[in-house]
Amino acid sequence: MYDHIIARDNSANPITITPIAEDAFKNWLSDQPESTKAWVSANGYEAKRGTQLSLPGSDGALGTVLIGYVDDAKAIWDFAGLPTTLPEGIYALADDLADNAGLYEKAALGLYLGGYRFDRYRKDDGKKAKRAKIALHDIEATKRAENTARGIGLARDLINIPANDMGPAELEAAARTLGKEFGAKVSAIIGEDLLKQNFPAIHTVGHGSDREPRLIDLVWGDESAPKITLVGKGVCFDTGGYDLKPSSNMLLMKKDMGGSAQVLGLARMIMAANLPVRLRVLIPAVENMVSGRAYRPSDILQTRKGITVEVGNTDAEGRLVLSDALTLAAGEDPEMLLDFATLTGAARVALGLGLPALFSNDDDLANGLMENGLALHDPLWRLPLWDEYRSQLDSKAADMNNISGSPFGGAIIAALFLDRFAEGAKSWAHIDLMAWNPSDRPGRPTGGEAQGIRAAFKLIEDRFGK
Ligand code: BES
Ligand code: ZN
Ligand code: ZN
Repeated sequence: MYDHIIARDNSANPITITPIAEDAFKNWLSDQPESTKAWVSANGYEAKRGTQLSLPGSDGALGTVLIGYVDDAKAIWDFAGLPTTLPEGIYALADDLADNAGLYEKAALGLYLGGYRFDRYRKDDGKKAKRAKIALHDIEATKRAENTARGIGLARDLINIPANDMGPAELEAAARTLGKEFGAKVSAIIGEDLLKQNFPAIHTVGHGSDREPRLIDLVWGDESAPKITLVGKGVCFDTGGYDLKPSSNMLLMKKDMGGSAQVLGLARMIMAANLPVRLRVLIPAVENMVSGRAYRPSDILQTRKGITVEVGNTDAEGRLVLSDALTLAAGEDPEMLLDFATLTGAARVALGLGLPALFSNDDDLANGLMENGLALHDPLWRLPLWDEYRSQLDSKAADMNNISGSPFGGAIIAALFLDRFAEGAKSWAHIDLMAWNPSDRPGRPTGGEAQGIRAAFKLIEDRFGK
């Protein structure tokens, strides 16, 4: 996945990548030989963040590559343009950067992510072989960056694979592959067994598809360690059901398993770092389709918790499948329960695509996630579980409706719906995210995206790490 990154080998003689802090540029330049000053000036180079300039060596070959940066949370992205713009060759980050572990980790992460490509369905255009190779030092910061990049890469790949190749069964296979790599136990409750084992909402929503719905369950780590449970929305394709989406809204709906991709990416980070926790990952995996077996608007369905739900809209399917998984999760009384879901368009209206909405019944958890998110440039923004809106989910025919009659506050309404099923969880957070980059930026190409999992990993590591 990241074969543009290689290990630093002392025998090789790579071209050095020299990071220059934007505000230290003038100082740096004053110490340079006249020829360098002339070259820098001729190129109008000022080491603005994310900009690069190649300096010739004494023999006319490429001497070094300057890269401007600012050492703040966004520094990751200052380095992310290099893998796609450097000419073919072998490069290495300057040795003295290894003394600054924090900055090195950000630089290394940017260099990893800058080389991410989703090329599974494309003929080899020869570009891959010609990519620059970047050598990273064998230090802790590199290992941390690599772990993060692999978690993010997994999440992106799972989202980018189209629904014809990423149905509920393939999502289960992906969880099994991941589990195998780290010695986790993976099981799944499939099709009619969902009814037998009392997961009626997952069964109902998934029944309209020819591809059987399932609850995927991954368990890893010492049973006596603190329990962390991650729940991810795994709607492999969301047509909206009988409340069919218009084609423009349906087009991107392969990404509706983006929540499950986040929790698998995060699980990978936790397992690879060998954090001393007992991890459980639950993924209700379904396809929301139209067929003679599909559920209808106004149907009343059962849930694992025993709460009956009237279907006001078949397109509000995510909260239904999550309800059964959250009931199971909360019943185990984990120390921390996080769910990730591409749950509402309303969250995107409120906060835009780059800022997932965060809801929590625990202020410490919410504050921790928000603080880490801002510090790592993996932001989340808290919205309230506003008590006064609860009654909007009342139904005349059942215990609850799955939608509100009002078009306002949709992300909060969805979170309040989940809250009924996460009841009893002492520290629960719900993350409503886009899981998609709408345009290309260095290190963040158009397509599936990880959001909030670096923030969550740091919090789990700080709270439960060794
Ligand atoms: N998967 C969608 C939400 C979504 C849409 C997330 C676009 C990100 C981008 C979800 O299942 C859905 O369709 N929600 C409805 C809920 C409504 C019917 C109450 C929505 O947001 O319109
Ligand atoms: Zn939907
Ligand atoms: Zn959906």
